[in-house]
Amino acid sequence: MTDKQAHLTIDGIENTIDLPIYSSTVGPNVIDVTSITKNGFFTFDPGFMSTAACESKITFIDGDEGILLHRGYPIEQLAVSSDYLETCFLLLNGELPTPAQKQEFVTAIKNNAVVDASVANIIKSFKRESHPMAMLCSAVAALAAVYNDEIDITKEEDRKLTAYRLIAQVPTLAAMVYKHRQDETFIAPDANLGYAENYLNMTFGTAGQAAKVSQIIAKAMDRIFILHADHEQNASTSTVRLSGSSGTNPFAAIAAGISTLWGPAHGGANEAVLNMLEEIGSVENIDKYVAKAKDKNDSFRLMGFGHRVYKNFDPRAKVMKQTCDEVLAELGLENDPLLAIAKRLEQIALEDPYFISKKLYPNVDFYSGIILKAVGIPAEMFTVIFATGRAVGWYAHWDEMVSTAYKIGRPRQLYTGSVKRDYPKK
Ligand code: CMC
Repeated sequence: MTDKQAHLTIDGIENTIDLPIYSSTVGPNVIDVTSITKNGFFTFDPGFMSTAACESKITFIDGDEGILLHRGYPIEQLAVSSDYLETCFLLLNGELPTPAQKQEFVTAIKNNAVVDASVANIIKSFKRESHPMAMLCSAVAALAAVYNDEIDITKEEDRKLTAYRLIAQVPTLAAMVYKHRQDETFIAPDANLGYAENYLNMTFGTAGQAAKVSQIIAKAMDRIFILHADHEQNASTSTVRLSGSSGTNPFAAIAAGISTLWGPAHGGANEAVLNMLEEIGSVENIDKYVAKAKDKNDSFRLMGFGHRVYKNFDPRAKVMKQTCDEVLAELGLENDPLLAIAKRLEQIALEDPYFISKKLYPNVDFYSGIILKAVGIPAEMFTVIFATGRAVGWYAHWDEMVSTAYKIGRPRQLYTGSVKRDYPKK
């Protein structure tokens, strides 16, 4: 708390209301408005554009400056110098691991990667054409049934084990979802492989034939997981916190987060990028679509451009662009027709005054969509990959909440419906 206060005067109320101000370590301070209910008011903030719903020490974003920090470390540095599991440890524990801690963490993840047969059977019971997010969401919720006796949220050891199980098993589930849609046999996790490499092997390997995964592709996949690991109080993370605030188990809360991520305004955007590139169809059509994007009377938007928070640049997109170039070169795909459209669009958007003046830069989803397509992952799986990387962020926020004093989330409303009236007499 600071020694500063905000003073609110309201027409018709004699006394001013004193509201405490709390200091952040970086970024905006917050005004504590809880006491205004005593005066018969609620605050009104649809979309929570101005509301801090919690205190957190995990991630900081400054959208104007293009800054994203996890536990204080810039995302660009983590993406280049760290790896996904080390970033997971950091998000969960607040500090980078010592070499011994890292080893222990990696081993724990490898030891918990096998999914129970009951959950594998749930995935098998879905129609093959089911959306991968529907399958993933159900499978993660089903983990609560498997581990019902070890999800006491008041026990630190249960919470630690749950973090391992979640981070370890989401990639196994993601690969199973893919295999089921392909009508192929599930491939078991391989403890000799790195996290991303293992995911790619479970996806592209076949029974008796390991997938050939180059180091560049494995590194790119690992980087995609790092760049999606957490993003502060976004819609899915806020969902996990709100759901978890009822005291429900973390698998159930995270299944709620997965449902939220599914929407096209959130995790579904990378899939939308690919669909858009396919709709454009060839480089000759680009000008027509760019004109549509600029036309105020046309609802078409260039998917993968612009960001609600980042108004200068998306720091994740910078790293992703570099990885994208490496992957395309590695796979010899520089001349792929769809990727040619993507490259040309990127160039236009970076040079065209409309996009420059509105600060519409390619965002992380633009490049991740291209990389995933180049690696051979179908567009319907893109949001599942996002969820795989984000599982740790959801868990870290849930754990932060339940480790401290918290209340069940219960927003209020501005009621504008009918006043009390009597049911008509018959
Ligand atoms: N293509 C063309 N014009 C655009 C676009 C776009 N992608 N995005 C914004 N604009 C224009 C918009 O028409 C508006 O113009 P005007 O000022 O003349 O009315 C102006 O730019 C501001 O747009 P806005 O909708 O007020 O901006 P916003 O901050 O509310 O929206 C956004 C941000 C990401 C929803 C939007 O840029 C968009 O729809 N982008 C495409 C979808 C996309 O790529 N989403 C993924 C974001 S990254 C996901 C994540 O971090 O989780």
